[in-house]
Amino acid sequence: MDTLASYDELPYDSLPLPETQPDFLAALARLHGFEAPDPRRARILELGCAQGGNLIPLAWRWPESGCVGVELSRVQAEAGAAFVQRLGLPNVRILHADLATLPADLGAFDYIIAHGVFSWVPPAVQRALLDVCRRHLSPSGVAYVSFNVAAGWQRLQPLRTALLERTAAGLPAPERHRQALRVLADLETEWRDPLLLKEIAYLRTAAPSYLFHEYLADINAPMPFADFVAALDAHGLRYVGEAGPRRARVELENAWGLIPESMAGRWTDAEIALDDAFATRFRRAVVARADAPCAQPPRAGALDGLALHADLRCDEAVDLDDEVEQVFVNPAGNRFPVTSPALKAALMLLSMRYPAAIDYPGLRDAARALLAEHGAARFDEPVFRETLFDLVMLHGVAPTVWPGSFGDEPGDLPQAHGLARAQAHCAGWVVSGARHVAVDLDFAGRLLLGALDGSRDIDALAAWMQARLAENGLALPLDQVAELTLQQLWLYVRQGLLV
Ligand SMILES: C[S@@+](CC[C@H](N)C(=O)[O-])C[C@H]1O[C@@H](n2cnc3c(N)ncnc32)[C@H](O)[C@@H]1O
Repeated sequence: MDTLASYDELPYDSLPLPETQPDFLAALARLHGFEAPDPRRARILELGCAQGGNLIPLAWRWPESGCVGVELSRVQAEAGAAFVQRLGLPNVRILHADLATLPADLGAFDYIIAHGVFSWVPPAVQRALLDVCRRHLSPSGVAYVSFNVAAGWQRLQPLRTALLERTAAGLPAPERHRQALRVLADLETEWRDPLLLKEIAYLRTAAPSYLFHEYLADINAPMPFADFVAALDAHGLRYVGEAGPRRARVELENAWGLIPESMAGRWTDAEIALDDAFATRFRRAVVARADAPCAQPPRAGALDGLALHADLRCDEAVDLDDEVEQVFVNPAGNRFPVTSPALKAALMLLSMRYPAAIDYPGLRDAARALLAEHGAARFDEPVFRETLFDLVMLHGVAPTVWPGSFGDEPGDLPQAHGLARAQAHCAGWVVSGARHVAVDLDFAGRLLLGALDGSRDIDALAAWMQARLAENGLALPLDQVAELTLQQLWLYVRQGLLV
């Protein structure tokens, strides 16, 4: 009941989550020596899908897929179902249901996604979640189950305990959240531990639902990785790998392409050691049926069959002549220092093509050609592949089995696709980019996007925007609005929002 009430009162921001995209999961699986079904025609199930901010864009992207979302909160499930109806999407359903009592005839799914659910439900529902994965996963299907990890949460527990003790459990969620903010301000003056102070500073600006569900909800049960693997085992499932960023590699001998079963234990031990070393707080586990082919740690060799995309910028002229370190930054602000000119060339090429992806052989050849133009005599492919692979593991570059095809200019009569326009029109819905990222748009950005029905050219759009902005108290000269309109249109192109 506590879970239900809090999710109704403080709905979780329902966002597209790039790591849950089936094309990304299929690419990861392949890096682990595992062939997952084609996402374009897959059946996809999301457990605890909130209002469908993650699932609906996937259904929109792949009309031949079949998507089902399950959500316990009536408020969110109904909001999702209403949005699906508005879009007229025939291949997605959002069910108001408890994942622990799903009808057995729901069928098999190639991808099952459960993000932000496992650690926040009682043990019986955790078991039910893994049961659903085992019962409904197709033979080579892939599940994504994220959970809080004990190794990193140990040191944060005093903060959760203090917030639970010093706030009133009976208050409605929004009020209790306000109380928690006051407690955080007090703790900031009382405490000295730098890790806890950093977390407090983050929580004071974080989304209310994040603070609530991590620190005030009745249940937040971080689990050691070993226990999670044991729980998978008990449910006839196996760990395939990690969908979150990786700072270190686990290598095992794999003379036959796949590691023998006997080494799975050593792999688990290595992952546990990494959790301790990095104080891991959160894992995004990729999971398969126990009777699926044995997985292995990811290998750079498997990049050949994949495509890659990256949205990066470098704030200085990229030096392709020398091994000088330069920093590439993604839209989330994550920084990726790169020294190798070959890798820098690849990142430039990927960023120019984003949101489209480039297949690995094409990228390798284009990077080699670009370096040759700069007079580089040698291109060391094994080194290029390994350094690129490290960046893939860090999530600087994303692997995919779906290259995608997107408009590369606004065109004479700019037109946004129907999902983007509907998201722009509806408060409470985030606009999702072609690569399943949340696109941050202000009032004017949403207004313009919502108006791109292909009936106006750029001059007409600028005049229309000028009038709308004036109605909202912002009088701007037409040439300024025209310039802003064009800039904004290119941003939509970059996010793959135009048809
Ligand atoms: C922290 S939110 C995460 C939402 C979404 N997956 C995301 O990552 O944005 C957890 C969601 O799981 C839902 N949930 C909790 N227990 C559930 C259950 N037994 N069956 C279905 N949904 C459940 C909650 O209502 C909530 O919307």
